[in-house]
Amino acid sequence: TIERTFSIVKPNAVAKNVIGAIFNRFETAGFKIIATKMLHLTKEQAEGFYAEHKDRPFFNGLVEFMTSGPVVVSVLEGENAVQRHRDLMGATNPSNALAGTLRADYADSFTENATHGSDSTDSAAREITYFFGEGEICPRTR
Ligand code: CMP
Repeated sequence: TIERTFSIVKPNAVAKNVIGAIFNRFETAGFKIIATKMLHLTKEQAEGFYAEHKDRPFFNGLVEFMTSGPVVVSVLEGENAVQRHRDLMGATNPSNALAGTLRADYADSFTENATHGSDSTDSAAREITYFFGEGEICPRTR
């Protein structure tokens, strides 16, 4: 099934100048980038995006990090996109990320783990809507 998933290149990866390297991995893996933009999240935007984690001990540090600099948010489209994007990223905790994954290559810590990706098609739909209007998404015909 062709799916859409949502990606964030996090502030530590933007600071390392690896936006293009990460996009290259997406494209080489066969994803189509059908929407993208850079933005500097407000505290309210970061708290809302990660609302499901609000009672976790890492929440405040996560929000502080995610608002510490610009991020790049994107919509990726492709066959089995949610799971294939997660495979490309590697484990959320970079200590467990396999060699060759984005987190193995670019993460600095559990919180500063370089990229975010949706964990299900339901999360993807919610996360895409959180950041993109319908008019900002550009499906490909070729
Ligand atoms: P992400 O995919 O953006 O979704 C939630 C984020 O919270 C996760 O990546 C990590 O950056 C962060 N996170 C999750 N669990 C922990 C943890 N135990 N300690 C620190 N940060 C965490």
